Amino acid sequence: MKENTIQNNPEPLCQTESRKTTAPVYILGIESSCDDTSAAVLRDGILLSNVTASQAVHEAYGGVVPELASRAHQQNIVPVVDAALKQAGIEREQLSAIAFTRGPGLMGSLLVGVSFAKGLAASLGIPMIDVNHLHGHVLAHFIHAEGDDYESPEFPFLCLLVSGGNSQIILVKSYKEMEIIGQTIDDAAGEAIDKCSKVMGLGYPGGPIIDKLARQGNPEAYTFAKPNIAGYDYSFSGLKTSFLYNLRDWIKDDPDFIENHKCDLAASLEKTIVDILMKKLRLAAKDLKIRQVAVAGGVSANTGLRNAFHDYAKRYGWKVFIPRFSYTTDNAAMIAITGYYKFLDKDYCPMSAPAYSRVTEERL
Ligand code: KG4
Repeated sequence: MKENTIQNNPEPLCQTESRKTTAPVYILGIESSCDDTSAAVLRDGILLSNVTASQAVHEAYGGVVPELASRAHQQNIVPVVDAALKQAGIEREQLSAIAFTRGPGLMGSLLVGVSFAKGLAASLGIPMIDVNHLHGHVLAHFIHAEGDDYESPEFPFLCLLVSGGNSQIILVKSYKEMEIIGQTIDDAAGEAIDKCSKVMGLGYPGGPIIDKLARQGNPEAYTFAKPNIAGYDYSFSGLKTSFLYNLRDWIKDDPDFIENHKCDLAASLEKTIVDILMKKLRLAAKDLKIRQVAVAGGVSANTGLRNAFHDYAKRYGWKVFIPRFSYTTDNAAMIAITGYYKFLDKDYCPMSAPAYSRVTEERL
């Protein structure tokens, strides 16, 4: 089922038809699904600004604390949007539409961005465009700033979306048509990395720390459990448990085991996760005879995973698409570009559209 759009909703939102045909299209994107408050501005699909305020407050807790995240979004949203408009060199009155992350994510965090977008759109009398955060990650491959030479994939392509909350293989048929052909049945890859890092007493988020340590370690030093499930689905809970139990045994014999072996542990953990991710992706690419393969989401910043993509490109003739670091983690540029393509189709959303925390069958 398609989400409500302005076409089938009586609420008057779009009063700017004449402005759109004569003036450039300026889209403001707003992202607040987790612990990053971000705003970006596009002119005719080209990125002018992308401003993000991250929340250090969660580091002390080893994970995102939802209540603290929504409070920080409240503090950050106005300055972040102001900064994005200022960097873009435009006034808010020039905006053509506001694209915002409607879900999935933490409800308290989403509500800040959604409510702000609604208030601003209503005050300016311009359309609102709801964006699925996961679509945003995939379409990060279509973000272009003036003069950049990043080559976007052609449809159809496969996208491995790996973040703290998702591990999915998506068949991307167009800007709007995406099919999840495989996904984790339990933990996400990023979640597994973060939890293993926590068990080792490293900081949060664990991904960048594990990545750094792994560069100095031996990836073959230890082996951890790999899942054996059918199709293109993933599972990371067994690996997490295997990591934990092995570590407990090793610490019994040597209380300083983690400190003495943290680089090898990180490298072996990273290798196991990358192997699991790439095996299913290769299977899907082979079965569907697709050679354009992209990666997206926070974990796509990982050096081992990026190297594996380049390696598979050589081995299997893939054309691979790896996003710039600034577009791997949550950012509003990806929301703005997704909103831009919906704007071209006049695919607006009504004021009554609520935030949603989870993706259901009909969403994505
Ligand atoms: O997409 P994202 O920023 O947030 C959501 O989950 O929505 O992804 C965050 C995840 C965290 O689990 C973090 O540890 C992981 O991405 N991550 C990494 C790296 N940078 C971030 N994982 C491995 N290596 C990295 N360099």
